[in-house]
Amino acid sequence: MSESGHSQPGMYGPGRRRRRRRGDRDIGPACQNLSGPSRDRDYQPRERRDGSEESPAPLIQKTPIILAKPPGERAKPLQTTAVSGAPVLDKPIMLMKARDDTVKPPTPPEATTQPSGPSKVEREGQRPTQPVYQIQNRGMSASASSAVDPLVGQSKLIPPEKMKHSIKLVDEQMNWCDSAMEYLRDQTDMLVVGVIGLQGTGKSTVMSLLSANAPEEDQRGYVFRAQTQEMKERGGNQSTGIDFFITQERIIFLDTQPVLSPAILDHLINNDRKLPPEYNQPYTYVEMQSLQIASFLFTVCHVVIVVQDWFTDLNLYRFLQTAEMLKPSTPSANHDSTGSSGGEDGAEYYPHIVFLQNKSRREDFCPRNLKDMHMVVDKLMAHSHLKYKGSLSMLDCNIFPGLGQNYMTPEVNMFLLPMQDMDGEDNLTKSGSTLTYPLFSLLPGYKGHPSFSTMISKLRSQILAMPRCQLSHTILTEKNWFHYAARIWDGVKKSSALSEYSRLLG
Ligand code: GTP
Ligand code: MG
Repeated sequence: MSESGHSQPGMYGPGRRRRRRRGDRDIGPACQNLSGPSRDRDYQPRERRDGSEESPAPLIQKTPIILAKPPGERAKPLQTTAVSGAPVLDKPIMLMKARDDTVKPPTPPEATTQPSGPSKVEREGQRPTQPVYQIQNRGMSASASSAVDPLVGQSKLIPPEKMKHSIKLVDEQMNWCDSAMEYLRDQTDMLVVGVIGLQGTGKSTVMSLLSANAPEEDQRGYVFRAQTQEMKERGGNQSTGIDFFITQERIIFLDTQPVLSPAILDHLINNDRKLPPEYNQPYTYVEMQSLQIASFLFTVCHVVIVVQDWFTDLNLYRFLQTAEMLKPSTPSANHDSTGSSGGEDGAEYYPHIVFLQNKSRREDFCPRNLKDMHMVVDKLMAHSHLKYKGSLSMLDCNIFPGLGQNYMTPEVNMFLLPMQDMDGEDNLTKSGSTLTYPLFSLLPGYKGHPSFSTMISKLRSQILAMPRCQLSHTILTEKNWFHYAARIWDGVKKSSALSEYSRLLG
């Protein structure tokens, strides 16, 4: 608070044209006639009440700002010139200065004394009838004052922007991207769902249908870009790195580039792209990229969906086991490193794994075949810590009404999705029967399973209802999760276990 601001003759001197407001009139004369210290005393509220007669003083034009100064901070000369001694000094001093149009708008602390944040018009001083009171509090830090700023508070209440398309969490060069942060909130009720699988198995399609799109929609509008016809014909891969999408229900979906992709390998060899120095061979780099992505998902996701479009590839299970082995240990709460030496607290967190058989044929839905598939996956995953059974059940979805609950013991987390374009299509059964029994043409053909859209909505309900296990030793908010994931990604890329494994690959 500067003295100079209140002793300018221009504030109440020449150029005063308008009638002053009622609240100002008892203060004006004191300001004009008194020198510094005694003027300060006259600004006290008691003095203002006393001088209520109409003053002949000229009118002021500008809005006053009253600044209260704590008693302890008043200048020494004030005490010597005070008439009534100590009791007067105990009261705050109200300093008044005219609002200067060139002065910046009020800063956050003064806004706290108003019922709501000042509008732009008010801040620009275009409403002179509204005085601004500033209570100075030297003890309050800048961060504390901004914490109570209603403008900041209001912006916190505004929901984050709704996402229309996925964005990159990890780009093609395997670098972390920060853009997802702006869509995240400070709340803990969230679910993180990731996907892995071989090339073109339908990962992006399934993730789009689980998150934001309906099967009837045009694939080009899906939130995760699915392979185009041209890409399919070229045998290429559509997705690169890791894509991020969060729904309004606060479910984070992570779509990934294909693991062990021949298209990525081909691209590395034929386009003569430079390998990172730590990798000697392109195929080593492709495998390491895949392992980095998978072990990252195993650490930051509640649920990881493994998409396959046929049953089944033993290499994929071998790959899952390797990724599990190389997965970074859950960092302990009070430990900074994410490396493989973490996890002194003992507990290790593993995600739920769902085996999704995409583009399943009718015979895959035959209960006997289904039972065999469950048994095979159970045997292949027997030594895994990943939670591959007990958290998702096709039998609970009323897809096989005649089957008992323990028909498929042990039931692993497996779900069958039929071919999307079989819906509404006449199949052999129907066309064959039409020839013999014309009346049957009115009935839908036998498919052996509910429609694709019914199945995807059942899968969605099952995934959303899965137990949300803890990811780390502390409970994470969405924003904390983002920082945690960034740390894990960094740890995965620098992991000594992964680089040791890559050296073994040659
Ligand atoms: P990459 O990211 O390149 O590995 O592919 P992806 O695994 O994400 O597969 P994507 O979702 O892009 O699907 C690949 C192709 O399979 C697309 O052209 C899809 O339209 C098609 N596809 C996916 N699911 C189905 C399905 O259930 N039925 C049929 N007919 N086509 C499907
Ligand atoms: Mg994809």
